[in-house]
Amino acid sequence: MNPAPRRATGAHVEVGMLALALLLAGAPARATSPVPAAAEGPGAAALPGYDPAGDPRERPQPGGDGLQKALEALGVDDLAVGLAAFYALPAPGEPGAPLGTLTPRQLLAFAAGQVEFARHFTTAQGLGPHFNEPSCGSCHALPALGGVGSRPEHVIHVHEPNDLPGETVGLRRQTFGATPPERAGPRRGRRRTPPLFGLGLLDALPEEAIAANADPGDSDGDGIAGVVNRKGRGSVLRPARFGAKCHEWNLWRFIGGAMRDEMGLTNTAAAGAQADSDAAADPEVDAATMRRIDAFVRGLAPLAPRAPTDRRDREALAKGKALFSAIGCVGCHRDALGGVQGVYSDLLLHDLGPGLDAGLDDGPAKARFWRTAPLWGLRHRPRLLHDERATDPAAAVGWHDGEAAKPKARFLALPERERRTLLTFLSSL
Ligand code: HEC
Ligand code: HEC
Repeated sequence: MNPAPRRATGAHVEVGMLALALLLAGAPARATSPVPAAAEGPGAAALPGYDPAGDPRERPQPGGDGLQKALEALGVDDLAVGLAAFYALPAPGEPGAPLGTLTPRQLLAFAAGQVEFARHFTTAQGLGPHFNEPSCGSCHALPALGGVGSRPEHVIHVHEPNDLPGETVGLRRQTFGATPPERAGPRRGRRRTPPLFGLGLLDALPEEAIAANADPGDSDGDGIAGVVNRKGRGSVLRPARFGAKCHEWNLWRFIGGAMRDEMGLTNTAAAGAQADSDAAADPEVDAATMRRIDAFVRGLAPLAPRAPTDRRDREALAKGKALFSAIGCVGCHRDALGGVQGVYSDLLLHDLGPGLDAGLDDGPAKARFWRTAPLWGLRHRPRLLHDERATDPAAAVGWHDGEAAKPKARFLALPERERRTLLTFLSSL
């Protein structure tokens, strides 16, 4: 949240006008999804049964009683709450701000979604029976809502499934505390709370943007392979791009899964189980709330790199970036991916060697394989790597091996001054 008083931007004026128009007219708006159409990605739209706007039965119908319906269609129950949330949004360029491309409607849904993201659910609302935190924002908190975890408890524990009835393949994602001990599998691993800024842009990437960089057999002999983990429904598969093991193929489902696994809140966005054993009626979170949270996460802008302070600084940053390319870090940390600038990831799985072998396979993502961590917003992360074992970029590189062995060796062989220049560039992201 940004407490500083601000000038109204173009978007603020537009939203103000929209709200005023709605108020004056009391007119029903079309029942549009707050989800930006472009963010679905061409692949997603074609998927049978893939409905990012949730359960159609719960969608508000067009027409009817004026303003209330219009607001519901926007995903905002209460205009005052929506507008208050909107005016408290971080200003453009600040962490947690919405993408500059959102329409006024999407902005209102984003603002309403931010409120839900921060909301502490109660047991009466269905929280539990097992949960890690009562809100998304408890974990995704720094440097703004949507960011990384602030406490060691925000590194969750995953474990192997076991052979209890009802268990399926794949890892269970719960803390020790939240998982009933009789359900915890024998082998366990740790996962940090990653930042969510810019994920809407990554969800929108077409299959080709990701698959084009995969080279599973390392046919070009550069030592870097890169594997796509394809997942989806039926025979329609999409590169899974979310999670440190690339285990989930779309953002909407990830959000549903997070609601259920981190907070014990059943909902129709999550794959699999839609009932739990507490007293609240299932699904515990309605589709409208899920759509608002989705609109918030999807609308979060990537964190911008810091601006150069002067000409010398600008030159140093440019030189550091050139070194980052020259020694081969860009082989995985790609600057631009399908037109999304500054992501510094290929969203592929790579074997990073024995040091990062966590001893747990996640389907095709074997124990030594990790998704290339996007480096945008790096300077806002106090701890690095999937389990937060590193505290600075140089230490993170120290853990690289396997497919990254050569770039790492070149990094270590750089003259001290050049290595510092490269690190200055990294810490500007
Ligand atoms: C207990 C802490 C915690 C809570 C609460 C939590 N998350 Fe997360 N979140 C995590 C962790 C840990 C991961 C990484 C999981 C992995 O890599 O397998 C994650 C990953 C994600 C990702 C994928 C990020 C990526 O880069 O692929 C999304 C999206 C997400 N969370 C959204 C949410 C939403 C929405 C909520 C609320 C419904 C939520 N999370 C609640 C800890 C949390
Ligand atoms: C073969 C692919 C590959 C290459 C080449 C590579 N990296 Fe990485 N990098 C990764 C993967 C995968 C991760 C995530 C590891 C994890 O989560 O434990 C990562 C993580 C990082 C991180 C930590 C980011 C975070 O949020 O935790 C930094 C910093 C980093 N790399 C910098 C570099 C630099 C600098 C180079 C060049 C010397 C480089 N990498 C080369 C694949 C690569």
